[in-house]
Amino acid sequence: MSTLDLFEGLQTPTQAIESLAQQACVLRGFALPFVEALLPALDSICAAAPFRHMVTPGGFSMSVALTNCGRLGWTSDRSGYRYSAIDPTTEQPWPALPTSFLALATAAADAAGFPDFVPDACLINRYQPGARMSLHQDKDERDYAWPIISVSLGIPATFLFGGHHRADKAQRVPLFHGDVVVWGGEDRLRYHGVAPIREALHSVLGAQRINLTFRKAG
Ligand code: SIN
Ligand code: FE2
Repeated sequence: MSTLDLFEGLQTPTQAIESLAQQACVLRGFALPFVEALLPALDSICAAAPFRHMVTPGGFSMSVALTNCGRLGWTSDRSGYRYSAIDPTTEQPWPALPTSFLALATAAADAAGFPDFVPDACLINRYQPGARMSLHQDKDERDYAWPIISVSLGIPATFLFGGHHRADKAQRVPLFHGDVVVWGGEDRLRYHGVAPIREALHSVLGAQRINLTFRKAG
């Protein structure tokens, strides 16, 4: 039995699927059974690869702090956005993708209709009140055939899920601790973002929202 099998019973019932588009949905509470395993793993990752505010190619410091785990990590600096196997802060490889992270990502992808998804990158975003993420497309990955799996933990957020043009009107989707958003296929390149986070306190995570974004980048 592989360690992944240990998480097999943890899938939540599928009736809590909310459709956002043809191939995009919210799996309400899907991550809740995994949280107890995720949080200590998250602590170890953050100890080895601390959260930092990266600079955009335009020269602005991002309001969201980030780190990564997995073979590839998403980075930004004055010369652009890219995936790198080396953490530019520690100059070490990113921490490995924990089994609990992998189990959650593959189970969520399966539940949303994307079988065989094996992520090689997990971007970990930390939002403190006031932090936001402007509308963007995820397009630094090599193969858009794979979906994006986005896990929300901690205080609530309003996720903005737009169209294929920046100016398209975006749906405002409230996201809570344990929710997972999946988008792929024809919806893979939709613009999306996060409205400024409101002051709040989560019983376990305090005044922050943690987002785990799983991708097959390489
Ligand atoms: C992202 O698009 O990288 C993050 C989305 C989120 O925080 O929900
Ligand atoms: Fe994104």
